[in-house]
Amino acid sequence: MAMDVALKIWRYDSSTGERALREYEVDAPEEATLLDVLDIVKDQVDGSLAYRKSCRMMICGSCGMRMDGAAVLACKTRMYDVAQAGQVPVISAMGNLPVVKDLVVDMEPFWGKIRSVTPWLEPGYSDPGEKEHVVSQERMDVIHKESLCIMCGCCVSECNSMEADPDFLGPAALAKGMRFVGDPRDRATVERLQAYSEEHGIWDCTRCYFCQERCPKGVDPRDAIAKLGAEAMREGIDSDMGAKHAQWFVTSAKTTGWLRETELVPKTQGVVSAISQVKFAMNLAKHGKVPLPIPPHVAEGVKEARDLYNLVKEQGKDGAAGIVQVEKGLASIEFASEGDLHLLTDEAPELPAAEGGD
Ligand code: SF4
Ligand code: SF4
Ligand code: FES
Repeated sequence: MAMDVALKIWRYDSSTGERALREYEVDAPEEATLLDVLDIVKDQVDGSLAYRKSCRMMICGSCGMRMDGAAVLACKTRMYDVAQAGQVPVISAMGNLPVVKDLVVDMEPFWGKIRSVTPWLEPGYSDPGEKEHVVSQERMDVIHKESLCIMCGCCVSECNSMEADPDFLGPAALAKGMRFVGDPRDRATVERLQAYSEEHGIWDCTRCYFCQERCPKGVDPRDAIAKLGAEAMREGIDSDMGAKHAQWFVTSAKTTGWLRETELVPKTQGVVSAISQVKFAMNLAKHGKVPLPIPPHVAEGVKEARDLYNLVKEQGKDGAAGIVQVEKGLASIEFASEGDLHLLTDEAPELPAAEGGD
């Protein structure tokens, strides 16, 4: 069965600077993806349309582009529902990368950042021995998602920090960095964490989660950045202000059960900076966001916060492993069937009446 698909495409020619939004309407099979529709447009309507593709099966990472302002892989995006709804989506090139022609972007800035994180294993052994090095499943779990990256650039396209700071390493490069930081065979862990913790690195991420939302392969780059932050702090690499802030929140929660934001600046940036922030701190207190610093307020349930802190330390879950554990917990909630949910509550399940008996 065929369907009628309409779309608008931002055409661009970098040699003349001409830019125009053109509308196309074609017949396509019902199972067509956005990439199939672009192929039909190029084949039947306008052979000058430029876009990238190769595998057509979500593996090569070539066909990243934007549909209605959000990055997608064209070969993963089915058009049936869009066509049925009578929608006319706007297709454009990915963001945060220079456009060369139509939907083709210059990937060199992307590759430059990938190269800058040393995207290869620095083996921590000279002799592999008689057998291969076996990595435990538990250690593999830490970098499983990061290993799925196909370098499509969809995350970079939507990155807020990169829009404000083009030198920011960005989600794809940092996720690649975590793939090696978490690999027990790599010997450059500390050097990597130090390099990624510098300006334009880990701590410059705004935690907007757009990269996580747009990644078509479930890499979850923001989680990878959180793992890098946790590993950096575990190694005592905390010279960046972002790391100091995170460190203070841990100390604050452990000692009082509160995130004492009024003390954040004096504890991490010094008294002089704190004086300039007094008005901001008073406003926080006025709106009930924080308790007044004097006398120090200790929450009733502070013991719970301390026990939790100690448990995480005892179990060695204060680095990336802790984040993986939380992810697993969330995934089990998301995928649990209704029948399993009683395991997550205090309520005992209703057992079926026993058959037979006396
Ligand atoms: S969470 Fe961080 S890395 Fe991801 S898109 Fe937002 S700013 Fe960029
Ligand atoms: S992290 Fe996801 S969105 Fe980013 S380059 Fe890799 S596969 Fe593409
Ligand atoms: S064509 Fe290879 S990922 Fe889409």
